[in-house]
Amino acid sequence: MLPLQLERLPASLAFFVLASSQLASAFYLPGITPTNYKIGDLVQLTVNHLTPSQSARDTHVRSVFSFDYYHHAFHFCPPEGGPQPVSESLGSILFGDRIQTSPFQLHMNVNETCKAVCDEQLFEPRDAKFMNRRIWQNYNLNWLIDGLPAGQRYLDPNTNTEFYQPGFALGEVKSEQPRLNNHYNIYIDYHQVRKDQYRVVGIIVEPESLGESKRIGEGDDFTADCGNPGVPKLLDERSQTAVTWTYSVQWRPSATSFATRWDKYLHVYDPKIHWFSLINSAVIVMFLIGMVSTIMVRTLRKDIKRYNRLDQLGLDDLNGPESVEDGVVEDSGWKLVHGDVFRSPKHSLALSVLVGNGAQLFAMAGFTIAFAVVGFLSPSNRGSLATVMILLYTVFGFIGGYVSSRVYKSFKGTKWKQLFVYTPSAVPALVFGIFFLLNLFVWARQSSGAVPFSTMLVIVAIWFVISVPLSVAGSWVGFKQPQAEAPVRTNQIPRQIPPAHGYLRPIPSMLLVGVLPFGAIFVELYFIMNSLWSSRIYYMFGFLFLSFGLLVVTSAAVTVMMIYFVLCVENYHWQWRAFASSGASALYVFAYSLLYWARMLKFSSFTGGLLYLGYSLLISFLWFVLSGTIGFFACWVFVHRIYGSLKID
Ligand SMILES: *[C@@H]1O[C@H](CO)[C@@H](O)[C@H](O)[C@H]1NC(C)=O
Repeated sequence: MLPLQLERLPASLAFFVLASSQLASAFYLPGITPTNYKIGDLVQLTVNHLTPSQSARDTHVRSVFSFDYYHHAFHFCPPEGGPQPVSESLGSILFGDRIQTSPFQLHMNVNETCKAVCDEQLFEPRDAKFMNRRIWQNYNLNWLIDGLPAGQRYLDPNTNTEFYQPGFALGEVKSEQPRLNNHYNIYIDYHQVRKDQYRVVGIIVEPESLGESKRIGEGDDFTADCGNPGVPKLLDERSQTAVTWTYSVQWRPSATSFATRWDKYLHVYDPKIHWFSLINSAVIVMFLIGMVSTIMVRTLRKDIKRYNRLDQLGLDDLNGPESVEDGVVEDSGWKLVHGDVFRSPKHSLALSVLVGNGAQLFAMAGFTIAFAVVGFLSPSNRGSLATVMILLYTVFGFIGGYVSSRVYKSFKGTKWKQLFVYTPSAVPALVFGIFFLLNLFVWARQSSGAVPFSTMLVIVAIWFVISVPLSVAGSWVGFKQPQAEAPVRTNQIPRQIPPAHGYLRPIPSMLLVGVLPFGAIFVELYFIMNSLWSSRIYYMFGFLFLSFGLLVVTSAAVTVMMIYFVLCVENYHWQWRAFASSGASALYVFAYSLLYWARMLKFSSFTGGLLYLGYSLLISFLWFVLSGTIGFFACWVFVHRIYGSLKID
């Protein structure tokens, strides 16, 4: 990754550097540029923020806040001259990474036993309380050595394979007492490529609580005694406690090559179950959709044939017994609303803006997932996923503008100025506003998860300087295009709409339509939530790709079906209906996030819950816009096709 120090660059300049360097880093293929070390070379250990996680004792995640490694209450040893930030990508900063240098001295293939990191640290009661609380909440330390996360070793009981999970425990609760892990056993796997050329291919840290460990050296000699492993380190919440941080290093030769060093971290839990449930839902959904759409295509064909035959027969044949029968049939069905179905909906401006933004999100999601499937966005390239998402979203402002103005033109809209302004601003401003508000809470908790103000400025700058002009340009191009001709003429006077019954009423139809797309992908949703809230790595992009495809197909098919039924009962207000019904899967996503909260999370603070709710709402809203757009365009095509095949003079 190219070095990029966002904190230091003036925001006005930053976006240029950012755009170019991010493009470069997006195409950086991890695993191609390994670092070779000679024996005795310093291997840098960098430290990232502390994150809440689950533990064997406690399967709930209890917090959403991450903390800076050098938060004063932790009393971790800083390197000489103070910690330096390590440059990161924008996406990595947004998603909470705060990587800094550390005082640990690791030398390639030089074993160490019990070294002190620095002088003894004194914990005041206040800090002890803070620390103990973090131990109760299962906080994890996140180190990086040669770009590889230090992990803990686990055994998957189902497949009996060993894998590494990034992060290791800050402490441990045993017999209701929080024990601080003040000693780290670092095991580094190295791989010899040539004579005196070694590469780091795996890192395990097994932390330990050593109550009586003391430094025995002086000056530059940092030896310690690591005495008596039976006595744990407890932090006294009433008086001062002295803590010595110590570590041991063992280098172990390994057959793992550099190219495959991430494999152990990217362990798939139960790949069979994962595949099984995904294919299961895919098959059921596809079967349902296939069945119903065959029926629909047949019915439609028959409808169209009958309508067109009736037209040919003309009025003179109406006396025949057969056509009277047909004439009666013609009194119902979707043909009746042909003079109204292309009438512009109410609030057409808002709908156009939403659909434009949805198209922008859709393009971003599609391209990001495609990039990820091809392997550009491997988790070893920290933050690349988020960075690429932001970059693509920005660039696709053009698509957003174009789509919204094309749609608005077809609605015969007249408030063009508003369209040009609202398309690039309404949805992003809402999202950014909520994000900013939530960020204030994180910031108030002194959590490192708060996005720095300078990064916020950079985001606003990128949005303003790249996204907005592109969107306006897109809107302009769309505005200049000729208006898409509707296949049938719209009548002067709107038809009466008979009252709807049963599942065709707006709310029940939304709930019905929303449940299928959600049902098709909720397995994947679980893994995504896990990676968001339990700091797990997400990398199953193949699954994600499939799920995305399923989401698109299901949303489109179910919404089209619903709109067909709605048109059959002579309700021609299909535009908002299609958007809202298809978007209704967002309701289920939100409900699912509440369920996830109940099952997997237990926040011990009010702000934790508030943040979780806020972010869930934000995600659900974006989901609504995106999936609503899918349904809208599916119905758009559908309505144009079926009314286009009618012969009406
Ligand atoms: C370091 O320790 C490991 C494990 O005990 C051992 O296999 C290895 O030979 C040691 N390396 C050196 C250079 O002593």
